[in-house]
Amino acid sequence: MPPRHSAGSDELLLKLNTMLEGTPAVLPGCEYFYSSDAVELWEQGQSGPITGLNRGPYLLLEFPATIVPRGAGDVIHELSVIGVTAVIAHPERNLHFVREPELLESFVRKGAISQVTAASVLGDLGRAALAASAEFFSRGLVHLVASDAHNLDRRPPRLAAARERVRRDWGEAAAHVLFEGNPRAIVDGLPVERA
Ligand SMILES: [Fe+2]
Repeated sequence: MPPRHSAGSDELLLKLNTMLEGTPAVLPGCEYFYSSDAVELWEQGQSGPITGLNRGPYLLLEFPATIVPRGAGDVIHELSVIGVTAVIAHPERNLHFVREPELLESFVRKGAISQVTAASVLGDLGRAALAASAEFFSRGLVHLVASDAHNLDRRPPRLAAARERVRRDWGEAAAHVLFEGNPRAIVDGLPVERA
């Protein structure tokens, strides 16, 4: 696989990490807004627009808020065939997945994993997102929890509180996998633990 980086963004990352003095560490990656040519774009490597998480084989994939385009399952399968795992971002905030958890289930069978937002687990993003994340948890469809933080006031990280909630509801072993084990595996480009 060709390396995915450009000198310009590398320089910015280095600058940012120097300013932060290592806490938190900022790693390269992107949240890729789904399009049907994802495989072609990925194969462009470093000259293309897609960066895997920490430049590894995991691609954070976002769908439009209300629909999952037809054919997305095939694209997820094709990605997995070339060694790329789609990480579906906040499915609990997508109306289609909320109404049809079986669709998310089928994507996971095709090789995807799913990443729920910490604030959703806590109910901060509304009752629909809370109920959907509980449903996905009970179906074994949550592989990691992420902050999706935007700022410190309206969209703060909330990871510690969400971890505590998951620990209470699903146990320490599950909390460890979803908050430490799987995120670490993704950063290291290693296989994640699946339910
Ligand atoms: Fe997103």
